[in-house]
Amino acid sequence: MMLFHKTAFATAHLIRESSHTARDWLRKVRRAVRNFCFTPSISRAGNLKVPLGVLLEVVRHAPWRCRIRLFQRLFPSPSVLFPPAPAEVCEFKSLANFESGYTHLAAMLGLAGKTPPPSELEFLRSVVNRQIQYPGTIGISDYFFLTAFVSILAPKHVVEIGTLTGFSAAIIAAALRHQHGKDSESWVDTIDVLSKCLIDETRPTGFEIAESFPQLASMIRLHIPHNSTVVSELAKRDELEIVFIDADHRHPSPLLDLLRLAPYITSRGWIVLHDIQLGTIGRKAIEAGQRLSLGAPYGAEWLFDSWPFGKIRGGNIGAVQLPNDRSALIPFALRLMSVPFEITDHAAPTAWHALYQSFAELV
Ligand SMILES: C[S@@+](CC[C@H](N)C(=O)[O-])C[C@H]1O[C@@H](n2cnc3c(N)ncnc32)[C@H](O)[C@@H]1O
Repeated sequence: MMLFHKTAFATAHLIRESSHTARDWLRKVRRAVRNFCFTPSISRAGNLKVPLGVLLEVVRHAPWRCRIRLFQRLFPSPSVLFPPAPAEVCEFKSLANFESGYTHLAAMLGLAGKTPPPSELEFLRSVVNRQIQYPGTIGISDYFFLTAFVSILAPKHVVEIGTLTGFSAAIIAAALRHQHGKDSESWVDTIDVLSKCLIDETRPTGFEIAESFPQLASMIRLHIPHNSTVVSELAKRDELEIVFIDADHRHPSPLLDLLRLAPYITSRGWIVLHDIQLGTIGRKAIEAGQRLSLGAPYGAEWLFDSWPFGKIRGGNIGAVQLPNDRSALIPFALRLMSVPFEITDHAAPTAWHALYQSFAELV
């Protein structure tokens, strides 16, 4: 009887062991197949090799009119993958150094000699001294950087993704007003996925515009609830010189917003990105015992750090420049998409789909 028990136990153990081995083996095979079909790799020459699964997915998601062009962009020759570029640096540490920072940034942007109008400095002083500062809005050195960027390039029209209270939209509008004057036709389109403000659901998104900047309200057009797809109704192709992205910071959302906006930005136009150090800063804070309700997403940081074209860092804010050929964004995006997503699992398939769809407008 005893012997029977021992044998039965040993057999059960053997079956369990072999089923574990089989399961591990199957997992390995599945991972290898997934890597082979879906994970881009880099050749010795530094080119991105696009696997068949990805190629088919990209082409499948594109409208018929773009499929051949997309296919030719990715096959048979491997796509050139540029390595991350070093960033130029221009930080605005205080109002006292705003003018020197502005001159420095103007030279970087090819407009050496441009200086800020006195009314801009006055406005910034009033903003620094304001009584109420809502959480989640950009900080002092960030709005100095954003002001200088918009003021130097002085476009007529700027698009922003991520309104919240409307503070940064007002900052952009003020920079346009100080360049073009009160009666000029210049404006900001600001887009937010929520109608009720994320930090205070009793108030509408963008409430701070009327509350703190009523003189700029006529220059700011609010688009809620919308996401970055609405830009196709707000701008023409190749129109925008600057856009500002400060929405969902979880990878790959900043990349998706950038790819959706890219067709509407001029070649060599600029995308200002907020929170390009949020992952690193947030991680350190969490390790030091702080609780961050929104975690420490790296989406904007990875996008900025891996950007292979022109870029300027201003602390936790930075700007990346579009290349002449927008289709060069596709191999860059595919590479970044191989980094695990930070968005929730159920949102990931929608994000993949949207990313692949965005490629069609880049060729
Ligand atoms: C960090 S806050 C923006 C702060 C604002 N730029 C400022 O400094 O005044 C992020 C905002 O993005 C919005 N948001 C989140 N995901 C979005 C998406 N996919 N599209 C558009 N807006 C989004 C949120 O509702 C929130 O209001």
